[in-house]
Amino acid sequence: MTRRKLIAGNWKMNGLNAALAEITAIGAGVAALGAKAPDVLICPPFTLISAAAKGSVAIGAQDCHVGTSGAHTGDISSVMLKDAGASSVIVGHSERRADHGEDDALVRAKAEAVLAAGLQAIVCVGETRAEREAGTAYEVVARQIAGSVPFATPGAIVIAYEPVWAIGTGLTPTNDDIAAMHGAIRRELAKSDAARAAVTPLLYGGSVKPGNAREILTLADVDGALVGGASLKAVDFMGIVGACG
Ligand code: PGA
Repeated sequence: MTRRKLIAGNWKMNGLNAALAEITAIGAGVAALGAKAPDVLICPPFTLISAAAKGSVAIGAQDCHVGTSGAHTGDISSVMLKDAGASSVIVGHSERRADHGEDDALVRAKAEAVLAAGLQAIVCVGETRAEREAGTAYEVVARQIAGSVPFATPGAIVIAYEPVWAIGTGLTPTNDDIAAMHGAIRRELAKSDAARAAVTPLLYGGSVKPGNAREILTLADVDGALVGGASLKAVDFMGIVGACG
């Protein structure tokens, strides 16, 4: 079975109004690729979602609250994100897990809120350097999958494997290590539902650049990429999008 490739950009806490021009340029680049283009998603900060969603590129958010509305100062709900024009929400990014103490149960509740709003949830998992060195990477990721990924209809959940030590560092696992972890994640999903496992897109994230995209994107069980730093400029991001063809 074929899973369409997805290249998603995570802008993190970057981007003022002027950066909307990058999203417009990405839209033009994707249109120029025509039928060869993969699915493309940009997740700018909350402040740019409404404006960005007016363009041709699918827009996502980087986090949400578990509720739909209420007394939660400073929080944003999945329903609000949908209303603003988002189609997807990243949950459980390692920066949220580390900076805000988000655990698997909370990440799962957020993913469920995203699904309940009718949006796609991109659930992030990945081991730290210490866990990789201790030989527990598979165990850690399996635990995160079991704890943070809700059961959902096919297509509603995307899983991003992002080794924490590869994010923003210029370091990446070997191609064999990426392929092995993605295979392990799909086998883990298959334990509860083989059909669902076969259609769940698995993205790799962590220092994906135009220069390494093609080799990573052609690995078995890699269905796309979640891109941080190299998603901020259209020229870099399109170098990755173009590597899918
Ligand atoms: P990076 O970030 O591409 O800058 O390493 C990836 C991510 O955190 O999603």
